Amino acid sequence: MARYSRITGTGSYLPPRRMTNADLAAELATKGIETSDAWIVERTGIHARHFAAPDVTSSDLGVEAAKNALQAAGLQASDIDLIIVATSTPDMVFPSVACIVQNKLGIAGCPAFDMQAVCSGFVYALTVADAMIKTGSATKALVIGAEVFSRILDFSDRTTCVLFGDGAGAVVLEASETPGILASDLHADGKHVGILCVPGHVSGGQVLGQPLLQMDGPAVFKLAVGVLESAARATLAKANLTDADIDWLIPHQANIRIMQSTAKKLKMPLEKLIVTVDQHGNTSAASIPLALDASVRSGKVKKGDTLMLEGVGGGFTWGAVLLNY
Ligand code: UT7
Repeated sequence: MARYSRITGTGSYLPPRRMTNADLAAELATKGIETSDAWIVERTGIHARHFAAPDVTSSDLGVEAAKNALQAAGLQASDIDLIIVATSTPDMVFPSVACIVQNKLGIAGCPAFDMQAVCSGFVYALTVADAMIKTGSATKALVIGAEVFSRILDFSDRTTCVLFGDGAGAVVLEASETPGILASDLHADGKHVGILCVPGHVSGGQVLGQPLLQMDGPAVFKLAVGVLESAARATLAKANLTDADIDWLIPHQANIRIMQSTAKKLKMPLEKLIVTVDQHGNTSAASIPLALDASVRSGKVKKGDTLMLEGVGGGFTWGAVLLNY
């Protein structure tokens, strides 16, 4: 009998400190940096984001999201036999956030590792978990996206610091006799490393290079719009489906203009586009599972719906996962 994987529970967690654009603009003004709610809303669709307290890490956020996903799936942590955490803001250089999450969940023994594909991390992690389940290496996986991007923001650079936020989302992915994940399509092109990066690294006990996020926003924007359409079309072709079969488009939440442009290219009405960037900002690898959980809990996404998840970001990386929820 064919073996597939299916999402059986979703969860998310946002740190309590919510910063509106006005709050952030007022804080930046004290440093002589000028921005406004009007600019941020018009260019990005972002109204607010959450920032974690200084002592809160990606694993702290990820554990809370994972607990919520386990509860939704009706499972205990001890049922889990694979943990993948998509993150670019790990607690430590090593070990992985996934190992720390495993320990915080009070379990041991199952494989646990991080996925580093920046804002595409969640679709990469979901694809790997699906493959491991299909080949029998895992049966019940926790796939988490967790980020504290506030730690790597340059608050003297208004072109980037107003865009990002902190948070975590998670899914439980279980082996199933009927297909949940229908197709996926992953890509990378390393020649674009420089357009979105945190170039610092640790060497000889010191941080060398700039350990804060740098982005050529317009260059990323241009690339993102093209690749999101091609990845969506590739997954549809692999699954023998068409645009019209998609019930909900859940793209990486970076910029409402990129998201709306993708929806238009897929001939989808904007009502079918899941939007949380307005309240979360760009939470990198956490943005898709955060948006998925919000749409499940609000009742928009229902069992049996066909979902198109899409990620794009640093690397340059991009990809899509088409699934039956
Ligand atoms: O998560 C990974 C994927 N990341 C993305 O998808 C991000 C992709 N890029 C974007 O979303 C957009 O390029 C941004 C939102 C980053 C920027 O929007 P834009 O429409 O491309 O604006 P721009 O960079 O061309 O800047 C327009 C103007 C500039 O002023 P001048 O040169 O026209 O005088 C900027 O200096 O807006 C200015 N500006 C700001 N003004 C007020 C840039 N940032 C700000 C700001 N507040 N925070």
